[in-house]
Amino acid sequence: MATPQTNKSKSTTTRKTPALKAPDAIKLLEADHKEVAAWFEDYDKTESDAKKGKLSEKICLALKVHMQIEEEIFYPASREALKTDQEEMVDEAVVEHSSAKALIAEIEMMEVGEDLYDAKVKVLGEIIEHHVEEEEKEYFPTCRKTDMDLKALGARMAARKEQLMRKLARPNGQAMI
Ligand SMILES: [Fe+2]
Ligand SMILES: [Fe+2]
Repeated sequence: MATPQTNKSKSTTTRKTPALKAPDAIKLLEADHKEVAAWFEDYDKTESDAKKGKLSEKICLALKVHMQIEEEIFYPASREALKTDQEEMVDEAVVEHSSAKALIAEIEMMEVGEDLYDAKVKVLGEIIEHHVEEEEKEYFPTCRKTDMDLKALGARMAARKEQLMRKLARPNGQAMI
């Protein structure tokens, strides 16, 4: 007699669209910065190679995706909105990315526990810390004063981030260790 009644008459389709939930572009980028900074701290605190391996894999993936969405979407959009003499901030950011990318590529070729592995992760953390400080203290606040459509950019970046996370993630998590 019990009727398998569902009372869900309301639409449940409004929740899914990432575009609607996406934060503005700068908030999204700053949340990434925070997440990665916490992982660098965890790396510094642990003695376990297994943990280090997982953390550095997460760090490298997150940074690659982050830098790519900045370079594909945020940086070009900001170039359009910034004054010509402000564009050097973007140029510097791109150059800093390339140092970080080179180091990430080296780390990804290595195994945890190898000589210089810890040092490379540490230096990567320092490069990123410096870079993040410049973005958050100078570059992003300048962007906020322009007419950049940060909501629309945030939505595009959130979607692209999701796509890249899937594409760049190694097939089975911490393979290769
Ligand atoms: Fe960033
Ligand atoms: Fe950046």
